[in-house]
Amino acid sequence: MFARAALRTVSARSFSTSAVRQTRVAVLGAGGGIGQPLSLLLKSDPLVSSLSLYDIRGAPGVAADVSHVDTASEVKGYAADQLDQALEGAKVVVIPAGVPRKPGMTRDDLFNTNASIVRDLAAAIGRVSPEAHILIISNPVNSTVPIVAATLEKQGKFDPRRVFGVTTLDVVRAARFVGEVTGKNPLDTPITVVGGHSGPTIVPLLSQSPTGKTISGEAYGKVVHRIQYGGDEVVKAKDGAGSATLSMAYAGAKFTNSLLRGLNGEKGVITPTFVKSPLYESQGIDFFSSNVELGTEGVAKIHPIGEISAEEQKLLEACLPELKKNIEKGKAFVAQS
Ligand code: NAI
Repeated sequence: MFARAALRTVSARSFSTSAVRQTRVAVLGAGGGIGQPLSLLLKSDPLVSSLSLYDIRGAPGVAADVSHVDTASEVKGYAADQLDQALEGAKVVVIPAGVPRKPGMTRDDLFNTNASIVRDLAAAIGRVSPEAHILIISNPVNSTVPIVAATLEKQGKFDPRRVFGVTTLDVVRAARFVGEVTGKNPLDTPITVVGGHSGPTIVPLLSQSPTGKTISGEAYGKVVHRIQYGGDEVVKAKDGAGSATLSMAYAGAKFTNSLLRGLNGEKGVITPTFVKSPLYESQGIDFFSSNVELGTEGVAKIHPIGEISAEEQKLLEACLPELKKNIEKGKAFVAQS
């Protein structure tokens, strides 16, 4: 079960440092493979005071089920025509709405369906809850994040401190796979992952971890490939039934918890996430994932990627042109909408 004890510790720490605010979290796509376990995990997070579950199908049922869990938060489900009500008063909106991959598909193959879903949800957030922090899980993240930003920009509501692409699953996989190779506990081997969230745009920085940097040669190539393409293992094993849902729900809940801790005033909450970023802007790449410090307004500080190895430099060179294409595709979609 998701770090329940860890959440209690987190909560205790937050209580001691600041008054915990009322935090309403909305999940858009709550009836889906990710949405359901994510809603359950958010119900277990003491930093969430109220949970609004929305989907075009099934959310009231998920809400009724999850609402019986014995934590203090209130849960309400909203049907297809109740998006505005679901968003009212939301401080954080998590979006796992949209179709997942089937075997043989890349994340970009999902663009045609998911781009308009995400655009329409972003427009509703801009209208109803423009102050909300928006966490985008729907793929292709490299394009859906620029779509959300451009949609809000059109409404004059875009605040770059409040729009996040959730790349936490890459970070979770990196720690797990490096732990597996080295025989270490993954919780003791955090790995920074930068770039974007698809195959070659995923750039794990093993050289910055005392454990990660011990991996070399063939083992290095293998573990990097596994971090970049770990999602394919799940798509293949599920054999047409979808992509990662449970590990993604874990990762989504983990990132949401980090954001809520930052919003509550906890200092030093730093994690990679895909945000509007100045790091590669001079190369026409204005969204990028690197370590970001989360604060009371969302993004508090974007960290540079730091020193990297020659191998990582090569990975970054492969990432940047692909990422640029993905970002431009998202922006063009909104411009033509
Ligand atoms: P799913 O098909 O099981 O669930 C998607 C849900 O979205 C469904 O319940 C559907 O009714 C709902 N939905 C569709 N249109 C909607 C709309 N306009 N408003 C509200 N809800 C809507 O798919 P799953 O497995 O939950 O994946 C969801 C998305 O997350 C996919 O795009 C997938 O590629 C992505 N994903 C992202 C990951 C990441 O690391 N960021 C990892 C794994 C998946």
